[in-house]
Amino acid sequence: MTDDVAAAERARAAFAERFGGEPEGVWAAPGRVNVIGEHTDYNDGYVLPVALPHTTRAAVARRTDGRIALASLQGDGDVVELGLDELAPGRPDGWAGYPAGVVEGLREHLAGGLSLLVDTDVPVGAGLSSSAALTCSVALALRDLVAPDLTLEDLVELARRSENDFVGAPTGILDQSASLLCTAGHALFLDTRERRTEQVPLDLAAVGLELLVVDTGTSHTHADGGYGDRRRECEQAAARLGVPALRDVADVAGLAALDDDVLLRRARHIVTENARVLEVVRILRGSSDPREIGPILLEGHVSLRDDFQISTDELDACVDAAVRAGAHGARMVGGGFGGSAVVLVDRERAATVAAAVRDEFDRRAFAPPRTFDVIPSAGARRLG
Ligand code: GLA
Repeated sequence: MTDDVAAAERARAAFAERFGGEPEGVWAAPGRVNVIGEHTDYNDGYVLPVALPHTTRAAVARRTDGRIALASLQGDGDVVELGLDELAPGRPDGWAGYPAGVVEGLREHLAGGLSLLVDTDVPVGAGLSSSAALTCSVALALRDLVAPDLTLEDLVELARRSENDFVGAPTGILDQSASLLCTAGHALFLDTRERRTEQVPLDLAAVGLELLVVDTGTSHTHADGGYGDRRRECEQAAARLGVPALRDVADVAGLAALDDDVLLRRARHIVTENARVLEVVRILRGSSDPREIGPILLEGHVSLRDDFQISTDELDACVDAAVRAGAHGARMVGGGFGGSAVVLVDRERAATVAAAVRDEFDRRAFAPPRTFDVIPSAGARRLG
């Protein structure tokens, strides 16, 4: 992760080099890790993410020729350039589709087009919301430059539509909400149906705890089938139960009418996961020891592994090794089928636990994982 001043400088300099002029500003938006509440967002349920210190930066300047030019410091160096009237779902494709989708959503405000350079230290494809960091940094930039009346909640929708309608990834609003609405030192408790938020203080260091992220290095993408399949299965389960969304099922007993084993498993994950979010929030809000959330995180993993069936051998190995080595709890995070896990561990055991995970990966001939400690960080902001 890079500090904000250095990050803004680097983006400005790279913008000037690519486009031969100063940007009008530089904006940053973070990736996220979800403490608990996985796949609940498109079921009208609850989530509890924190923003990472890792961000994507967008250096932006408006143009007058009706074109957009998109460059990334992480790409192959090529500038993707096209006319605003050529934008269409899937065009441009690849990483450029994400910012282009945001531009498309604000077309009426942006007749002259824009030049954009992005730089990121959010691990890509690691289940840490690199795509939301990208769309949200651009959305905030365009709000400040051309659409000052938009609220942060409008930007959540704008960024989500870019992913859903333009890129074709059928995600919910967890990632975009985390990137735009999180605040430093807090987890964001979000009711995705009511769009109600609460900043829940989360200072794990003060009680001698660390939340480790383990990036397994196995990639995932949400435009692929597995994520969309789960979403459809949840919608089918809700339809069979005659409720608007699985959020409306109060407990597992309410699933008795589901006679399809796959739909029952999917729905059971959502119903129990919503309860886990509420329980974790209750613990964190109160005077209880945050270590008590450990077993709940582990239950969440087992539910994602056995009922939602989106874990991988690497993620399971990580969770098992971490808990065997003394972590309070651990779970896979994000959309699944690869990506990262989080591990809740006492600070003095963190190095031992990380080493145990690395050893287990080595023993099983998996590529070495990358680990880092999560400091709940600020949401999207202008850097300069
Ligand atoms: C991805 C999606 C989110 C959410 C999570 C799973 O990150 O983008 O909307 O569904 O998976 O919790």
